[in-house]
Amino acid sequence: MLHSELIQIIHEHFGLTALKLTKINGYENQNFTINTKNKKYILKTYLYDSILKEELDAESQILEKLIGNISIQSPVPVKTNKNTYLYVHHTEKQSYLIRIVSFLEGTFLGEITCEASVSYDLGIAMSKLNLELKKHHFSSLRAKKSKWDLAHFDLNKPLLKFVENESLKSRIKYFFTKYDTEVRPTLTALTPQLIHGDANEWNLLSDGSSIKGIIDFGDMCQSYRICDIAICITYLCYDKRHPLEWMSDFLKAYHSNDPLTAKEIHILYYLVAARLCTSLCNSARSRHLDPENVYASSSQKNAERLLNLWFKYNPILIQNMALEAIGLKTLDSEIDAEKILNKRSLFFVKNLSLSYSEPINMKSAAFQYMYGLKGETYLDAYNNIPHVGHSHPLISEAIYKQQSTLNTNTRYLYHQLGDYAEKLLSKFPEKLCKVFFVNSGSAASDLAIRIAQAYNKRKKVLVMEHGYHGNTKIGIDISHYKYANKKGPGRQEHITKTDIPDTYRGEFTQENAGHKYAQKTIQLLSGVENEVSCFISEPIVGCGGQVPLAPGYLKELYPHLKAKGIVCISDEVQTGFGRLGFDFWGFEYHGVIPDMVILGKPMGNGHPLGAVVCSAELAEEFSKGVEFFSSFGGNPVSCAVGSAVLDIIEKEQLQNNAFLVGDYYKNELIKLSKDHPCIGNVRGSGLFLGIDLVHPNTNHTFYNLAQHVKNSFRKNHILISTDGPDDSVLKTKPPLCFNTENVDQVVTELNRALERFDYNKSSH
Ligand SMILES: Cc1ncc(COP(=O)(O)O)c(C=O)c1O
Repeated sequence: MLHSELIQIIHEHFGLTALKLTKINGYENQNFTINTKNKKYILKTYLYDSILKEELDAESQILEKLIGNISIQSPVPVKTNKNTYLYVHHTEKQSYLIRIVSFLEGTFLGEITCEASVSYDLGIAMSKLNLELKKHHFSSLRAKKSKWDLAHFDLNKPLLKFVENESLKSRIKYFFTKYDTEVRPTLTALTPQLIHGDANEWNLLSDGSSIKGIIDFGDMCQSYRICDIAICITYLCYDKRHPLEWMSDFLKAYHSNDPLTAKEIHILYYLVAARLCTSLCNSARSRHLDPENVYASSSQKNAERLLNLWFKYNPILIQNMALEAIGLKTLDSEIDAEKILNKRSLFFVKNLSLSYSEPINMKSAAFQYMYGLKGETYLDAYNNIPHVGHSHPLISEAIYKQQSTLNTNTRYLYHQLGDYAEKLLSKFPEKLCKVFFVNSGSAASDLAIRIAQAYNKRKKVLVMEHGYHGNTKIGIDISHYKYANKKGPGRQEHITKTDIPDTYRGEFTQENAGHKYAQKTIQLLSGVENEVSCFISEPIVGCGGQVPLAPGYLKELYPHLKAKGIVCISDEVQTGFGRLGFDFWGFEYHGVIPDMVILGKPMGNGHPLGAVVCSAELAEEFSKGVEFFSSFGGNPVSCAVGSAVLDIIEKEQLQNNAFLVGDYYKNELIKLSKDHPCIGNVRGSGLFLGIDLVHPNTNHTFYNLAQHVKNSFRKNHILISTDGPDDSVLKTKPPLCFNTENVDQVVTELNRALERFDYNKSSH
């Protein structure tokens, strides 16, 4: 519509003389400020829609009712000379709805750095507003369904496709999943009421210490007051250094007027996240439609920042802080913890070990964070099973969808088995073209030995010093780490152990160490080669203290063993699936191709999934024996999960992340070692690293120091463990979504822990 046309409408139908009409940018509809001689107004225009007409009419009626009944200013609607709130303007092409409201003078909360008192004042203002809104009922607003209403968060799901960053998309999806389980069941039990629905920093006026007014009631709808509170808290916390303090003050004030319930508080954490995700989905869509949209980009940045921070908060922490702020009883974690521990000692024996002298009670986890029962958040720098991240929504979705459709066994036909096998095998050299699915790394290593022995009809197994391959009978037999333990069963006669080719502390440390170690192993087998069935080893020996086999070792040894008919097995349970960064598999890291590969842990991201991958030749021989059947191995659910893991690694470029973040991690640790001579060696690749702690300027293991560091990490909420023959190597192998900020947290804490250690008191 032309300005002149509008000025005429304003005059004729609203009785105002517009001296100036200025377009306001940033709204989907055309909005203007009107300057008259004495006052300023806002003119809002909308394309005609009969439902919208009813909604706008209701909105204006409510605005009228708010005057004098709330503690802050709100826009006053201007009626037409026919005593209506809306003027319907028809043109040849289109009809419009036109309305005018008063303009509120003042400064937006988003424009100023405000004092902390604002949060309290906002709490009071919003409670009074909500108490007033609660009194009014309009069927048109009850019927309104908006994607900005957190009660209809799901309406934003279709917008996920506009989020380009796949990791961000997964994090948003996570909160969609949590909404289903945590929010929806509670929300539906609450009493609905009218809410403003968009009390963000650009809709609130403030003088820096208090709230003066609220504008834009366009998102008003029949929803739940806790949704409105969550929206308010989101924008209040957006850019704050200590957001939770602002949240607490707001809630304290709100509750003093309009008491909240524990049920509402329970879902607050997830509702704030839902609001952030709504904002992210919508700004992604806006940027997709208009890549130059500056507003969308800046709001995306803020929302992403707070979302990342939100993951660092344990939901229980938010819940307890909020409950405490309003004077309600917080959750009692002590009772739960005691019960859990009691049952554990009642039904289990003590060699089912627990980490730390004060064990951690875990409640939930998301991506690289784990949340304890007491409200504490742990940065997970240790667990490699949740390879693509704890509680990854695509894994949960894969399990749920397949489990609720079909879960059966390999004696029936279903496409998932072949599809997953094809996807998995595409990650291997052509020669490794057959797969057996089982349910653990142990089952895989057990089967691998059987396949090798069936192939060459030999019994002897060559194993690696400090190697670990599983908990079955065969698994223990071939794991030097277990059988040679002082409580272990000892070496079986058919087992030959070779020295770990360790270039840091081993016999050979020079450049040609790989060659020397290989020759030593060859020597060891001299005369008995024809009795040895297979050689099993990890590419980087985890339990040995993250020791990479010396460069060139496997490259020299494999051809020799293969020439003697010995099957070479690479245990990739720890090192596989892109963890090493540059290489997808550990055998690639060593430039060799084994005859057989064992998979486990990360393969199912926590779902029990393992596999043996081997050459057709080996599989063929094994197939002549008794039937191979695993009740759960390769079931449709496992296949769906395994397939999802591979998809996520690719989509979220997690191998590349392991490469980049791992490189940064290793370099930062090496830098730190310059200040701390007790860091003897930093080794490994990608996000599979070991930090060997030693008595300064020697390579003697330093058990007490490693335990001190591990425990101070625990105290400061970082999960990291120790391993190696003397339990003196810090082991870090986090989920692959670990980022450089996480690395900085670990390295800073390591520096602090090393600085705090009292060398005079500890000599071991
Ligand atoms: C290298 C290696 N192989 C095999 C296994 C056994 O896997 P699972 O515990 O799934 O049976 C493990 C477990 O820690 C391992 O680290």
